Amino acid sequence: MTLAVETHDLNIGYRNAESDVIVLAGLNLTIEAGEFLTILGPSGCGKSTLLRVVADLLDPLSGKIGVLGAHPRDARQNRQIGFVFQDATLLPWRNVRDNIELPAVVGGRNIRPLPLGRTDELLTMLGLEELGERFPHQLSGGQRQRVAIARALIEEPQLLLMDEPFGALDEITRDRLNNELLAIWRRTGTTILFVTHSIMEAVYLGQRIMVMAANPGRVVEVRDLRPTKTADNSCSREDAGIISAMSDMRAALEAAS
Ligand SMILES: Nc1ncnc2c1ncn2[C@@H]1O[C@H](COP(=O)(O)OP(=O)(O)O)[C@@H](O)[C@H]1O
Ligand SMILES: [Mg+2]
Repeated sequence: MTLAVETHDLNIGYRNAESDVIVLAGLNLTIEAGEFLTILGPSGCGKSTLLRVVADLLDPLSGKIGVLGAHPRDARQNRQIGFVFQDATLLPWRNVRDNIELPAVVGGRNIRPLPLGRTDELLTMLGLEELGERFPHQLSGGQRQRVAIARALIEEPQLLLMDEPFGALDEITRDRLNNELLAIWRRTGTTILFVTHSIMEAVYLGQRIMVMAANPGRVVEVRDLRPTKTADNSCSREDAGIISAMSDMRAALEAAS
């Protein structure tokens, strides 16, 4: 089976005129296809930088990385990666439907025609059926994030990168979107890398949780939650195993901060 992401002694960071700034050093990480991995860590530990490297928005400083069995560039050019950020970054002059279709109509090579009905399917999947003709300023924060997720899914990516996508939402909306995201993940089989500051969210969503520390950025723990959850990765927030995983993750994060 092809791995979704595989790194060997990967060093990532930023190139300066004078020297390289290493953000995350010596990363060895393997993510299986179809996995749901959540990433927890203090600000500045390199979570966003890691997603940028996976998405081929930033070159690694050294080491190896494979994405979907190839170079990250191939995965990007073959449009196999979807990205959702904390701010929905929708185009204000396009309505919901046109924002969702955006990746499929602009930019780059390998554009495929959208299957008929694909946008309607996504509008339904994200509970946006009534909102297709609205503009971003006419939506709530939660609705805008739904549009951003639909846009990321339009080309049926095999890998979905989510960088604190629900961080700005109220708790009720966030819980609802967490459940919708799990349903989408079950249905599509896409691999998800999900960055969050919320321990609850990380434990609730992830099959595995990767905990990172800052200064220097590094991985301090990878916890496999699959033995604690059902086969389809559901769990109850009140389950004893989940509660104890949360307190372990809190301790790991505190030690890392
Ligand atoms: N474009 C950049 N150039 C130089 N340094 C950067 C750049 N972007 C982020 N950094 C630095 O890299 C480190 C990790 O940042 P980031 O990946 O955004 O952390 P996180 O997402 O975990 O909060 C931080 O110290 C940050 O200041
Ligand atoms: Mg970040």
